[in-house]
Amino acid sequence: MPRPLPLPLLATLGLATALISTSQGVEEPQPFAINCKACHILDQALVGPSLVELSKIYKGKPEEFLKWTRAPGKKRPKMIQMPSMAHVSDQDINTIYTYIVAATKGVTEKKSKNGDPFANHPHTTRRPRVQRTFLPNTGPASLYVALPGEAKLNLVWDTTLCRLRYITEGEHDDWPYLRSNGNAFATVGKSLYTEEKRPFFSTSEDQTTTFKGYRINSDGLPTFIYTIGPIEFVETITGSDKAIIRTISIKGDHELIDFETATSAPLSPVLGLSGKDGFTITHTKK
Ligand code: HEC
Repeated sequence: MPRPLPLPLLATLGLATALISTSQGVEEPQPFAINCKACHILDQALVGPSLVELSKIYKGKPEEFLKWTRAPGKKRPKMIQMPSMAHVSDQDINTIYTYIVAATKGVTEKKSKNGDPFANHPHTTRRPRVQRTFLPNTGPASLYVALPGEAKLNLVWDTTLCRLRYITEGEHDDWPYLRSNGNAFATVGKSLYTEEKRPFFSTSEDQTTTFKGYRINSDGLPTFIYTIGPIEFVETITGSDKAIIRTISIKGDHELIDFETATSAPLSPVLGLSGKDGFTITHTKK
């Protein structure tokens, strides 16, 4: 039975600048969510100082703020050194700066408990969630997606290559990375499936791939938008304990999709409905 593809998603382009709402009522810009949120949260110290503290130091000094992100110093004896954020554009840093100043207005710092900095971290155990961290066997600009459910399925999506890299099972932990000042990788659970290359559209290998951005849907899971040559792809992840489903809508002139069939890993993909405008890839847990 063919199911309708979420074509209205195509109308949501320009998502690179999409905003995510926060409980504060100030919109959280995506560059912040992707690059800073793993370590900086609103009102208490985590891996790095709180946004309240950053705002106190840098309010009215956007240029000094920018300078720090390019070449962070070493100030706080009990904290790791912040990695350079030189890969984030000046414009995005400016957007982040404006957000930090606005979001911290009238907010006061909470004392954080000592010990494991993740004890207070709401982002590290909640499912579903999407997190930017430093992961093994993928590019530096990858996102970790924790799916809902007891099975603790996760996937890692590379925003440079614009494709899924692998699926794991278990809890993610980026404390090894943080504790070692970036000299170790976060652990991501037990590997269930690795995708060596894009399983569809293999004729496009030598075409330019461009990441346009992502957004978080109401179920807490992401939609990635990217182009390969002239063709636009909108890839929505849904999932549960039993399966991960990638719904891919396509816009622009294209040849028929070329799908390479599965290996025998526990979560090998199965191609679902395939048509001119899109298709689904399902990874089912047996
Ligand atoms: C991997 C963790 C991590 C990430 C990611 C991170 N920071 Fe930091 N940041 C830190 C730590 C740790 C410190 C404190 C370093 C110190 O005092 O030596 C810090 C300190 C800062 C400071 C305070 C500098 C000062 O003068 O005291 C600013 C501003 C800052 N970060 C901005 C950012 C921005 C903007 C981003 C995202 C583009 C970001 N950070 C991403 C860990 C991180």
